[in-house]
Order: sequence, then C-alpha cells, then structure tokens
Amino acid sequence: EFVYNGFANANLSFEGEASIDERGRLGLTTGLDIVGVGHAFYRYPISFRKTPSDPAMHSFTTSFLFEMTSLYEHYGSTPGSDGVAFVISSTNKFLNDSLLPGPYLGLFNMSNRSSASRNILAIELGTIMNPKLNDIDDNHVAININSLISVNYHTAGFYTPDGGFQSVRLNMEQVFQLWVDYDGKAQQLNVTLGFPGSPKPKYPLLSNTLNLSSLLPSELFVGFSASTSTLSTRHFILGWSFKTNGEASQLNYSAFQAAGNTKESDWEMNCGPPSFTYKDLVSATGGFKDKMLLGKGGFGRVYKGFLPASKQNVAIKRISPESKQGTKEFASEVTILGHVRHRSLVRWSQRFCIIKSVASGLFYLHEEWEHVVIHRDIKSSNVLLDDAMNGRLGDFGLARLHDHGVDAHTTRIAGTFGYIAPELARLGKATKAADVFAFGVFMREVTCGRRPVEVNACGEPQVLADHVINAWQDGSIMDSRDPRLEDCVAQEVEMVLKLGLLCSHPSPKVRPGTRLVMRYLENVATLPDFPLNFFNADPANDEVYDQFVASVAAATISLSGGR
Ligand SMILES: *[C@@H]1O[C@H](CO)[C@@H](O)[C@H](O)[C@H]1NC(C)=O
Ligand SMILES: *[C@@H]1O[C@H](CO)[C@@H](O)[C@H](O)[C@H]1NC(C)=O
Repeated sequence: EFVYNGFANANLSFEGEASIDERGRLGLTTGLDIVGVGHAFYRYPISFRKTPSDPAMHSFTTSFLFEMTSLYEHYGSTPGSDGVAFVISSTNKFLNDSLLPGPYLGLFNMSNRSSASRNILAIELGTIMNPKLNDIDDNHVAININSLISVNYHTAGFYTPDGGFQSVRLNMEQVFQLWVDYDGKAQQLNVTLGFPGSPKPKYPLLSNTLNLSSLLPSELFVGFSASTSTLSTRHFILGWSFKTNGEASQLNYSAFQAAGNTKESDWEMNCGPPSFTYKDLVSATGGFKDKMLLGKGGFGRVYKGFLPASKQNVAIKRISPESKQGTKEFASEVTILGHVRHRSLVRWSQRFCIIKSVASGLFYLHEEWEHVVIHRDIKSSNVLLDDAMNGRLGDFGLARLHDHGVDAHTTRIAGTFGYIAPELARLGKATKAADVFAFGVFMREVTCGRRPVEVNACGEPQVLADHVINAWQDGSIMDSRDPRLEDCVAQEVEMVLKLGLLCSHPSPKVRPGTRLVMRYLENVATLPDFPLNFFNADPANDEVYDQFVASVAAATISLSGGR
C-alpha cells in the first residue's frame, strides 16, 4: 500500500521525459518534444498473489489524479497526442525496446503491439484516434491487455446517479480522477472516471469480468506511461494511491487545489518581468485603435504599441471574448515563448543541428508516423529551440505576430508568403513536396541569416534563392552565407545551400523526399552535382530533370540495398 499526495519524495523509477516538477507533480511528458515518451513506476515490484503458484490473484484498488494539457489549438481530427495509461506490467523498462511512441502510448511498437508475452494491463486515457487500433474516438478510456486493441472502451465521461451519461474532454487542462478496482474473487475489473473532490461515481465507466490470474504473473510493477506525437501535450499525475486487498487511501485534493491556486503567480514567475497594467497597454496602443492593428487570428487581435518609458515598439496581443484560445493556453504559450525566444547569435554547428532536427521532425511527419502528415506551414517562426538548441517544429498562434507584414495573406491552408511552392500556389494542393519546398527556404534562412524575401536598398523585393544562385554564379556560393558565421565547416555550408536549392526546386518531382534529405544531412549519401541552370523553371529542362530523378533514384536504391 502507498499513497502520494504529490511526488516530491516518492519512490519512483523514471524513463524518458518523466520527472517531478518543483510543485511535486509527476510530469510524464514535457510537451517540448514533437515525439516524447515518459514512464514512471513505483520502484519496487508488488506481489499480486499469496505465493507465486497461488492461482488466485489479489484484489487491488488504485486511484490517481491526472491532467493533460495540449499546448495548441485542436484542428478537428489533427493527428496529435497520444495519451496516458495506468500500467501494471512485468517490467518497468520499456525504452530499450526500440519503442515507437505516439499512438502506442509509449508501451508498444509496431511489431509487439499485440503480443501475449508482454504481460501488460494498461488502463488507457486516449486522446488520439487510431482507426488501425479500432479506437472509437480521440477521447476515450479503455482497458488493454497485452495489446493496444482494447478489451473494452468508452468515450470519456461518467454515469450520473440517475444512470445518465455525462461526457468530458480529457485534454483540456482539467484535473480528473480515475479509479481502477479489481476484485480477485469475482474477477471483476472496474474503471471509473470522475472529478477530484467529488464522490466517486456509483457506476463504473467500464466493467469487465477478467481472470487477470491467467494473464499476469505474480510479481508486477505499477505505474504510468505517456507519449506525445506531432502536437505537444503535457501529461501530469498529481496524486496516486494504491493498495492490494483493500481500499486505497483517499487522495487529499485540497492540497492540490491550494497548489493550483498559485498557478497564476507561477505563470508570472515563469514569464518574469516586465509586466504592465492594462492602462499601460491602452495608452501604448492609443486605446487599441484600428490603425495600430497588426493582425488577427483565432485568438484575437495583435496591435502595435509604443512603450514611452523604454522607447520600445512592441506587439500586444489582445484575446477576444470569442477567442478559441483560452486564458490558460494563452498563458502556456506566453510561458513557452518567454523561455525559448532569445536574440543570441546561433553558431553554425548549432544552426546545422537545428536544420537536422527540423528535418528529422519533418521526416517523422511524412514517413514514420502511420498517417502522412503534411505540415503546410514550415517556416522559421514555427521552429522552437530548446535549451540544447534542438529545433522543434511547432505551430504557434503567435507565428502571425512575426509576419505582420504579410498577415492578411496568411492562412493555414495556403501557408506563408515566401514559403509557398509554385505548384501549391497554382493548384492549391498541399503535398509532401510542398513541405520540402518550404523546408528548403528554411534551410536558406538559417544559413544565410536572411528572410525568404527582403526588400533591397532600391526598394525591390529580393528572393533569397536568387541571392544564393547569384553568389554561386559569381563563383562562390559560400559568399551568400550569413557573414556572422565564422567557425563553420565550408563543405557543410555549401552542401546545405545546394540542398536547400534542390529542396525548393521549381519542379516538385526533382525535390528529394525527407528520407533522402536526412541522408544528405547526415552525410550518408552524397549530394549529386548539378549545374546552375538546373534551377531554371524552363519546361525545356524536363528531360534533364527526369534523368536527374532517375539517377538519384538509382543511387538511393543501391544505398538502401546495402542495409
Ligand atoms: C464494479 O461495479 C459494479 C457496479 O457498480 C459493482 O457491483 C461491483 O462491486 C464493482 N466491482 C468492483 C471490483 O469494484
Ligand atoms: C483463472 O486463471 C487461473 C490461471 O490460469 C486458473 O487456475 C483459474 O482456474 C482461472 N479461474 C477461473 C474462474 O477461470
């Protein structure tokens, strides 16, 4: 038996992103990685039988408080994150298993997602719909045994005393309580969802007759697993109690509420000074005058403002009452931006690392996940940097803020001015090749330290690709790099610049796939030579392109043949 009202001194073992935060919460995923997994288990195995050979399994009860926070708006059925599970398992080590996170909850991968040898009971709180796993929706509670194909499942919610059903949304930054009760004699497993501080609903959400004795050995680990993919989500466990042969202790919810109430000041602390009064902001924007309006989004409006004290031009985001983004999402967005935005100069080795990490995120979206995800809005302002200078592909409400000049032309469907592939502008169809085009633009931005389109001294727009091609024409493509890049490896810069041009080649069929892009960046494959005129969008070049594509395809086949 154990009870944790907060995890500061808990006897847990961790894997992946799991850790205890300063408020004593167990965070399973950080929400900062595109793909993340976290495990936390009670450190010691628990005996579930009187003697190892006893056919009867102990009864047990457990209950825990959890909270899931998606850091982004949800776009309909956008594949995203993932979920959290309470787990009883013969092992507490999963990450040596070439695990594929995401829709597999951090417990299974493609090859073992259904295997009797796994010895896992997982109570899944799933917030992704994976039709291949027979998921009913993207907001469900399920019982899984040795497999992600559930034994029983139900849309998240609870039964009211009169027998009616009340559904709830799991990943809306709300704290829920889950009870899991197993009666060893009756061989009945009940799962009940409810709100902390309220009585446990009388009728379970799920109830199954299960002989766990035939499925699980006697020594087992108990704990939690969570995973994220593509859309960042944070998963927290706030408190947990467990007992065999008896009723697990009540959790002390008032302690968590008290902690929760400090949230706002917490947020202020995280964001740090300066802070402003509403009056300051009204006067900075001339009373939120229309002529100060920079842009509008789903969240509200962004105004230009001037702060007389510091003589700074600033952008001020004002949440509208009809905003789809809640105050808490806004707070977490500001917290993230407060942490990741900085003006320090990024050295080349770090820039190369950023390019590679974004390429690998894109490769995951295009090739590794079980559905193809077209990002549609790859650009530098949608790339976050973590403290190890890894680039993370995100999609932020504030992105528009950085692009205020072109805001009116920015839609999620069309992408962003400067990053739109010619065929996308013509046909309006988002493809992997169009993502690769935008990634090519991004590579150039990072290497040259310029925006995709800049206005030159004569007031004419200058496309960054032309700047690179011109430098190449003049004899040194290296001259187009950011002059502040001193300690760079010339071959790497040259390769990245040429690969960037290839990625945003006018003809989509010439652009490499993300798998090949990764190979070039990791120096496993050599970028083929191509002449300068290769980048002209001249239909007469079609034959040249076809030959090129065929030769790359041949090289790729021979490469993968060696594996
Ligand atoms: C499961 O729920 C049913 C219906 O409320 C109840 O009769 C039974 O005692 C419960 N079993 C356990 C193990 O909680
Ligand atoms: C449950 O499984 C155990 C182990 O396989 C078996 O010995 C026992 O008879 C089963 N109980 C029932 C009621 O089927």
